[in-house]
Amino acid sequence: MSVKPLNFLQRPRRLRRTAKLRQMVRETTLSVDDLIYPIFVMEGEGQKVEIASMPGCYRYSLDLLLKEIAEVSSLGINAIALFPVIPEHKKDDTGTESYNPEGLVQQTVKAIKQVVPDIVIITDVALDPFTTHGHDGLVDEQGTILNDPTVEVLVKMALSQAAAGADFVAPSDMMDGRIGAIRQALDAEGYINVGILAYSAKYASAYYGPFRDALESAPKFGDKKTYQMDAANAREAIKEVELDIAEGADIVMVKPALAYLDIIQQIRIATQLPVAAYNVSGEYAMIKAASQMGWIDEKKVILETLTSMKRAGADLILTYFAKDVALIKKYEV
Ligand code: PBG
Repeated sequence: MSVKPLNFLQRPRRLRRTAKLRQMVRETTLSVDDLIYPIFVMEGEGQKVEIASMPGCYRYSLDLLLKEIAEVSSLGINAIALFPVIPEHKKDDTGTESYNPEGLVQQTVKAIKQVVPDIVIITDVALDPFTTHGHDGLVDEQGTILNDPTVEVLVKMALSQAAAGADFVAPSDMMDGRIGAIRQALDAEGYINVGILAYSAKYASAYYGPFRDALESAPKFGDKKTYQMDAANAREAIKEVELDIAEGADIVMVKPALAYLDIIQQIRIATQLPVAAYNVSGEYAMIKAASQMGWIDEKKVILETLTSMKRAGADLILTYFAKDVALIKKYEV
């Protein structure tokens, strides 16, 4: 061990020496302000049913959902993304229940507005929870997912959600042209202040498995590769984002997040709009499973993972960990 220091001009470790120094030079912060909490609503009363592949996430009946949302709001979370669990007998081939003005989503939005009026409500626009076949669109006899007829149904769905009081509609279906069609219809009906959070670069991903368990919405035949994007493509993500912006999107999204950090980064550079990332169900399940096995430190891995999405360029993160983050920040920082 030499006692005399070597003559290095740069010593990056100087900036890492103490916690205060590290805080001063920290480039990225994860804030509860950035988080959107996805939440599942089901029919009935007094129901809170845990989702087997998403421990810590539940399907709530409306009465208990309202209590949960009050708590979510009191933790400082600004926004929720609502997903319905539709009973089998209300599903059909064309997803008509999706635009029922008294449907589960529409009723839930109205009720939330009564109880927690200022929380930002984002509703999902896609047919898969409502169709018997589990696809996001209408299907012909050959099993082809039809684009334009689907867009017509999506427009009705978005309008019914806006009428119920949704702040943002979020098309997650990946049909061509749907952002423009929905924007025009919203404006024509006077909903000029209802925003569109576009799932612009949504990949055909195996990471959605637990979510499809939660909604019992897995496709009954085939896969979603003719409408959701190929995991190998990056330039195409920029094209999708450019189209959605031209059609009127207010916020663009990349989904999933963790395996697509490069896409988040490229889109951050390509647009001035807010960029959202969806930390999806499979990403949640992997962390939960490893931590239940005692193999990782759950809280640290949650913070590190979500920080990586911010560092990549996401302004907003949809995450089932939103409450965990709020609690960690409240009690441990
Ligand atoms: C359906 C939809 C999916 C998710 C959000 N909306 C699943 C799918 O496209 O099959 C996935 C969310 C998650 O995995 O957390 N349009």
